[in-house]
Parts: sequence; C-alpha cells; structure tokens
Amino acid sequence: MIPRKACTLFIWQVVVGASARGQGLAMRMLRELLCRGQREEVRFIETTITIDNEASWALFRKLAKELSAKLEVSVAFDKDTHFFGEHETEHLVRIGPFN
Ligand SMILES: CC(C)(COP(=O)(O)OP(=O)(O)OC[C@H]1O[C@@H](n2cnc3c(N)ncnc32)[C@H](O)[C@@H]1OP(=O)(O)O)[C@@H](O)C(=O)NCCC(=O)NCCS
Repeated sequence: MIPRKACTLFIWQVVVGASARGQGLAMRMLRELLCRGQREEVRFIETTITIDNEASWALFRKLAKELSAKLEVSVAFDKDTHFFGEHETEHLVRIGPFN
C-alpha cells in the first residue's frame, strides 16, 4: 500500500515464467492479491508500464475491465528527465475506484 495515498495498492513487478505465459496466470495472481485480507481497503491499483510492453498493457486493461473501473495513464518517470535517456518512459497506470 502506498503510504499517504489512501486505498492505493502499488504493483511493483508482475512476472510469469516464459513457458507459462498466456494461460491467465498473471490475472489469477492479481485477483488473488486483491482477495487477500488487507488491513486497509484497496480501491485503486497503480503500476508503471513502458509503452512497448504489450503484455503488461493487455493485463492491466483486462484487470480494469474486470473491475469495471477507469484506467488513467500519466507519465511516472520520463526518459529524459528521470532516466537521462537510458530507459524508456515509465507510464503511471491508475485503475479505480473499485470495490
Ligand atoms: C506481463 C505478464 C506478467 C503477463 O502474464 P500472463 O500470465 O501471460 O498474462 P495472462 O495470461 O493473465 O493474460 C492477461 C491478458 O493479457 C493478454 N496478453 C498476455 N500476453 C500478451 C501479449 N504478449 N500480447 C498481447 N496480449 C497479451 C492476454 O491475452 C490476456 O487478455 P485476454 O484474456 O483478454 O486475452 C508476462 O507477459 C510477463 O511476465 N512478462 C515479462 C515481465 C514483465 O514485463 N512484467 C511487467 C512489468 S513488471
């Protein structure tokens, strides 16, 4: 949970072994995470994604749809400002609110 950002769960990494991809495993992991008895209520999910990561975009778009929640995109870390041109821009994806 992000300190000082109410009800927001930040997904830092989600990875499925290459041979097990495309079978719904990542979706199952995210669902399981949301079903755990957190001490705080979760109403938003945030993560960061680079523009070229099609699998990740598809995963989080699907999650937003499943939760019937809005998905908003903004810049989290800019290629030039934050990474000195050495890493692609990380887009902040915010999903919610959901129950
Ligand atoms: C992103 C990742 C975790 C997805 O795992 P996965 O178990 O294959 O995902 P799922 O099977 O649950 O798929 C979820 C949705 O994304 C879609 N999807 C998955 N891989 C995709 C791809 N390469 N291109 C387009 N869509 C893709 C699926 O089709 C599914 O949508 P659908 O049910 O509507 O068809 C996996 O590709 C991965 O580990 N990638 C490398 C690590 C990474 O980049 N992680 C994200 C940044 S931390």
